[in-house]
Parts: sequence; C-alpha cells; structure tokens
Amino acid sequence: MFSSISAACFRNSRLLCRVFAPILSQRNLKAAAVRRILSFSAPASSGFALKPIMDHKLYRPPPEVRGMTSLDKEAFTQTITVPALRVPIGVLNKVVKSLKKSAIQRSGVPRVVQDKEESSDFRLVLLDPHKVTSPASFSEADAEALRSFGVAEELHDYELRLTYDNLRSEEVLEAVLPRGQDVTSAFSRVGHIAHMNLRDHQLQYKNLIGQVIMDKNPGITCVVNKTNIIDSTYRNFKMEVLAGEENMVAKVKENGVTYEFDFSRVYWNPRLSTEHQRVVQLVKRGDIVFDVFAGVGPFAIPAARSGANVSANDLNPESYRWLQHNCKLNKVESKVKTFNLDGRAFIQGPVKQELPALLKGKVGVHVVMNLPALALEFLDAFRGLLYKEPPCEENLPTVHCYCFSKDDSPDTDVVKRASYSLGFPLESRCSVHFVRNVAPNKDMMCVRFSLPKEVLFSSDPEQAEPPPKRQKCEEATDSA
Ligand SMILES: C[S@@+](CC[C@H](N)C(=O)[O-])C[C@H]1O[C@@H](n2cnc3c(N)ncnc32)[C@H](O)[C@@H]1O
Repeated sequence: MFSSISAACFRNSRLLCRVFAPILSQRNLKAAAVRRILSFSAPASSGFALKPIMDHKLYRPPPEVRGMTSLDKEAFTQTITVPALRVPIGVLNKVVKSLKKSAIQRSGVPRVVQDKEESSDFRLVLLDPHKVTSPASFSEADAEALRSFGVAEELHDYELRLTYDNLRSEEVLEAVLPRGQDVTSAFSRVGHIAHMNLRDHQLQYKNLIGQVIMDKNPGITCVVNKTNIIDSTYRNFKMEVLAGEENMVAKVKENGVTYEFDFSRVYWNPRLSTEHQRVVQLVKRGDIVFDVFAGVGPFAIPAARSGANVSANDLNPESYRWLQHNCKLNKVESKVKTFNLDGRAFIQGPVKQELPALLKGKVGVHVVMNLPALALEFLDAFRGLLYKEPPCEENLPTVHCYCFSKDDSPDTDVVKRASYSLGFPLESRCSVHFVRNVAPNKDMMCVRFSLPKEVLFSSDPEQAEPPPKRQKCEEATDSA
C-alpha cells in the first residue's frame, strides 16, 4: 500500500510541481499515510500553504538544563522531528552525493537511516530541518537531480533522538549559562591542554564548561583556567585544572619544530608562531643569534635549525631546563649554547664577550628580546658595553626588541621609549612592526634597529648606568 501511495505521490508531485507531503514516522504511520493522501491530493491551485514544518532553533537543548552546574548529559536528550526523503537503495549514494547541501550535518547523526516501513528497498535520507522546510526548499538543481533518480520530493517526518553527543559546545553552554550573558567557549590549545580565560559570571559553571570543552574537542584531555594575571617574573600563569588529567607537560609543534614543556611553569603562547617565524626568516645560515629571553626556545631552536649559531638565555630555571631539553629533542644542542641568567647579566656577560670578534667578521648578528612588559628597560645594558674596544661601524648587531603600547600612536610611543632607554635617538633609524593586539587598546610591537656604535662604544662608562625608572606598560592581560 505504501509503495503505491509513494509512487502515486511521486507522479502527482511531478504533475503538481512539488506538493507538500510532510509526514512519515514510525510512531504515527497511519496518520502519516492519511495526511500524505490529503496533501498530494490537494490541487496546486488550492493555495495549499507550504508552511515550515520545523521550529527554527530545533537543536536547542531542553530548557531544564539552564543553570546546571554539574554536567548531566542525559538531561540534554530530546526527540526532534526532521524531514527525510524516501530513497530507493539503488540510487542512494547518488542522491546523498547530490543533496550534500540539504542533508543533515550533525556530529554523530547518520545521514541515512533504515526506512521505518521495513522495506529493504528504501532508506530515508535525513535532511537539515533549518534548510529544508518543504519540497519547495530544494534548489532547482536538487529537484532536477531527484527527478532524474526517480525520487519523490515528498518529505517525511523522522523522529530523531538528539543527545548531548550531537550538540556543539556553544549549544550546550548557551543552554546552560544564564540567558543573555557572554558564553564564550574560546580557548587556546597547547598540546593536549585547553587554556581558558573565564569571566567572573562563568566561574560558577567552570567544571561543567571544562568538561564540555574536553568532550567536544578531540585530543584535549585537560582544561585549565587562568586564576590570576600573568606572573610578572617568568611570564607564566597560575592556573586551575577544570577538567581532565592533571598532566601539564605538553608537546606542541610550531612551524615544524616540536617543543615539550611544563605549561604550568614556563611561558608559551600559541599566538606567537607567526612572529617567531617572521624573525627566524630574517636570520641567515651562519648568523649569530643572542636570545635574551628565550623561554623554551621558539626563536632559538628554529634559528639553529636553519643554520645559525645561537646563545639562548632565560632566568626561569624551568624554562632553562626545557630549553635544553628541546635543543636535544630537535638535535640542535651543538648549535645552541644555553644560559640561566638575568637578561642584563647575559648582555653584559656572554654577549659582551663574543661581540668584539663578531663585529670584525662578516656574519650577521641578531639580538632577540621578547619580554614585552620589560624588554625596553634592558636596552640600557648596551650603553658603553664595548667602551674598551676600538669602535667599528660595520656589522653592528640587529636588535629585535618587543614591547607593549597603550598609546594612540604605538609606533611613535615605542620608538620614543626605546630611544630613551638606549640614550640615543632611534627615530628614522629603526623599523616598528605591529605583532598583535593583546587586550583592548594594548598592542604588542617589535622595534628593530641596528645597535648604534655611539651607544655600544660610548667612551663614558657612566652612560651605561640605567636611566631613572620610567612608566612601563602594565602587566599583560593576555599571555603575550
Ligand atoms: C614573554 S616570554 C618569551 C619567551 C620566548 N622568547 C617566546 O617567544 O615564547 C619571556 C621570557 O623571559 C623570561 N624572563 C623574565 N624575566 C627575565 C629576566 N630578567 N632575564 C631573563 N629572562 C627573563 C621568562 O622566564 C620568559 O621565559
């Protein structure tokens, strides 16, 4: 009986040009058949309304989940009605391929299901209820394809059991957190760790949020939240585990280089990969790099891999340890000398010792200073650094110094501050590069300049005294 109705319907649908025939589900099969008959027998000219068959926000979880603080996955289960096409098995693959845009696309939801009429000759192709609300929703091309495969454009209702697993993290969080408040599910990924920065109103839900992020992002097995702003000395965060294992030793790949480190004890920012690459590309094979604030090695190691000889320093003993580890991991330990010194002691020690010979040579010399909150204040360490050496004009080191600016004209601001610290006007002798915006009205910048001989060889060693302290940029609100 069903197939004859179906065939009749198909013939009619061709004749009547896409008649709306909305029903078919296991539960109300009889009613479906009746309604189908009614629908395809309605003349096209009768003004039969092609009303949408679905609510707009169909995937919205049940309202009872609002305010939940401990995740109860079962509470998200609901049955929704989605449209389906009844398709002969022989053309199933072709139909699914042609209807790519209209077919349902939901994690864990099959596009093809058993025909509930128990016919082994047919299957149901589930459609996206937000795109297909009636046969008229099909594009001309889709409609033509269906006709060519002999498939009736008749829509059937399918009762779909939608569970927590089928929902996106934003859908879950939007349903749980207070209405009208920001529900960001954004995080930075550091290996297996998702690193969040929750707002005050989200803290009540922090463990649920952590669990959802872990469930919905394959490979994430630990979710952490910053518990305060960045630690001012070593630039790492205090953090709290919200969900998952408490394993903070991450393994990440950046620009083809692998790093391992304890994320809770060192600095790592996945948003700096482009900047690391930009600077490393300026370094040529055989060049010398002094990395004053090296962290776990994201400038030093790629530079060594591309043929530079590197001296890398970090004051944090944990960073120093992981830096050494990463040099071994990437087989560049013979190209990287590592130091665990304060930046000023590094400049006035290893850098000062090596520079005179390097200035006489031909290889490029780079000094990288990525400690944006403070690096400008370290520039005075170059004043009169080589005052006992015969001045030379050539092969002066290129300094890449990072800083934050909250000024309306960050370029002018950072050049002014770098000049002040160096005791020498850098205007028109440097370039400024915008790195990234780290917070509203706060930019991370990089000032690049050739270290002036007037600074390096200043005969007045008194000039090497640090100038009086000047306003510095506040602590980062972001992990820059
Ligand atoms: C912003 S991080 C940059 C790390 C790495 N260069 C990068 O790009 O990811 C700054 C690093 O400077 C180190 N540091 C902080 N104060 C320092 C100091 N006075 N001397 C040397 N290193 C310092 C921190 O431990 C941290 O690893």
